[in-house]
Amino acid sequence: MNLVSNKQIYNTVEFDTWAHETNLLDEEKYLIETYLNKEAKTLEAGTGGGRILFEMKKMGFHSLYGYDYVPKYIAQAQHKDPESDICFEVQNATQLKYADSSFDQIIYLQQILSVIEDENGREKALQEAYRILKKQGMALFSFLCFESRMNNIVYFPFLVYLSIVRKLRGSHHSLRYLPWLKLGGKVNWRALCDRAPYVYWYSLHEAVQALASVGFNILAVGSTRQIQKQQMHANLESLTGERLEGMLYCVCQKS
Ligand SMILES: C[S@@+](CC[C@H](N)C(=O)[O-])C[C@H]1O[C@@H](n2cnc3c(N)ncnc32)[C@H](O)[C@@H]1O
Repeated sequence: MNLVSNKQIYNTVEFDTWAHETNLLDEEKYLIETYLNKEAKTLEAGTGGGRILFEMKKMGFHSLYGYDYVPKYIAQAQHKDPESDICFEVQNATQLKYADSSFDQIIYLQQILSVIEDENGREKALQEAYRILKKQGMALFSFLCFESRMNNIVYFPFLVYLSIVRKLRGSHHSLRYLPWLKLGGKVNWRALCDRAPYVYWYSLHEAVQALASVGFNILAVGSTRQIQKQQMHANLESLTGERLEGMLYCVCQKS
């Protein structure tokens, strides 16, 4: 199969994983319980089969909305919710149909921004997230974290290999763009040939800067490692120099 885009990947080889997944990761549970309000109107971006929203419904959240750009996921989520307690819609993060200030809180977890292939699209998606959130509203984001990957002794040799491959090809493509290493739970051997589509690995500074540039205030930031210790940091400066492992999480508020 010639996979040309991340959307096509979710529509095919990755579909089953995210259509039927259940339960929350410890990090997701911690962020939702610590920062979100059960009474508030809440939207999840890139909801897939609705895993996070269905778990939130069990936790007592009752005004829930979710969107995804793959129609098959939305059909799957609606099928699991015959009472239509949750409002699921097909939408693209880069161009949302929701009105300004529609939601009290928004969830952009599972690294949805990292899956948007181009810089303009990632910027547009952040602007849209800011636009649809109410003033003082809370937002949870997660990013693929470049430092985590660089610090990982399993992946570091692959990054060196990839940079050599790109140099030999005369390519100036940034190492922040990496091919999928696994697809549908299996090793993606095409990654060895540096085949697109790519996902974008944010550095800590870049992620915080991207959020701040659209107007978000950062309330807490940390990687999986800091969340596991329940020690997120209040700002970039205090986290800089700490070891980052796993994903990067940011809790924000609309100013
Ligand atoms: C890693 S899956 C996570 C699914 C779900 N949030 C969960 O945690 O179970 C990422 C999801 O984001 C969706 N997605 C990626 N880019 C998107 C975009 N630009 N607009 C809407 N959905 C998008 C994909 O279709 C996929 O369902």
